[in-house]
Amino acid sequence: MSTVTQAAAKREHKVTTRSLQRRKGGAEAFSMLTAYDHTFSRIFDDAGIDVLLVGDSVGNTVQGEESTLPVTLEEMVYHCRLVSRGARRALVVGDMPFGSYQVSSEEAVRNAIRLIKDGGVAAVKLEGGRNVQATIERIVAAEIPVMGHVGLTPQAIHRMGGHRVQGRGDEGREQVIADALAVEAAGAFAVVLEGVPAELAQEITDRLDIPTIGIGAGVHCDGQVLVLHDLLGLGDWTPSFAKTYANLGALASQAARAYADDVAQRKFPGDEHSFS
Ligand code: KIV
Repeated sequence: MSTVTQAAAKREHKVTTRSLQRRKGGAEAFSMLTAYDHTFSRIFDDAGIDVLLVGDSVGNTVQGEESTLPVTLEEMVYHCRLVSRGARRALVVGDMPFGSYQVSSEEAVRNAIRLIKDGGVAAVKLEGGRNVQATIERIVAAEIPVMGHVGLTPQAIHRMGGHRVQGRGDEGREQVIADALAVEAAGAFAVVLEGVPAELAQEITDRLDIPTIGIGAGVHCDGQVLVLHDLLGLGDWTPSFAKTYANLGALASQAARAYADDVAQRKFPGDEHSFS
């Protein structure tokens, strides 16, 4: 099979929680990107990205909030629906926003069901370790696949005192390991490791049977995730652990300035853009 045909075949095969699990420990790591709308969902799905995460980072990236905390369940349902419609092959995972799973396990199950039924996602993600073990168990018991998220958990920004690397020092390290093990024991199909030393992420990846997905966690995880705005240079700044692969922000600004100049000078619309 030619490389092009192989790439096409790979793109066609629908990604599921089970197919991701089969890639645990594989030589090739899998890719996850955040997406918040139909346009980027289609583009990333077509590019062969394995998992699309409708992240509550929508709060910072799209809504202009200072944290993810104000994001509501209704807003997540809306963005999940847009992304689900655009994805043919990728697994779409919806973030449970702050407040939607902390009050009680019953409420958490009800809200996870909303993301599946109305948002169209195939799995949900929630932050925390030992403190959400029972909640993950309940959601999994309702036949909803759960992705965990440990280490730097942005919904705990006030407890952590900012976006700080977690898992440093013996105690910090033991905490993150215990959280990752709890998430696995609860039945999660994968876990995001955010903002932890690379060597700790490697140890957790070796110890868990489920895939780990790193962000600011080094190269040894089973998969990697980036936020769309960091990948494409659309934000005001890019965190040191992220890599900007294209600078769409600069291109968009250039295009808008060129358009404004053309309008001012009556160069747009031309005859070809006008009706006779
Ligand atoms: O909301 C988000 O974008 C996330 C990723 C950073 C993993 O949770």
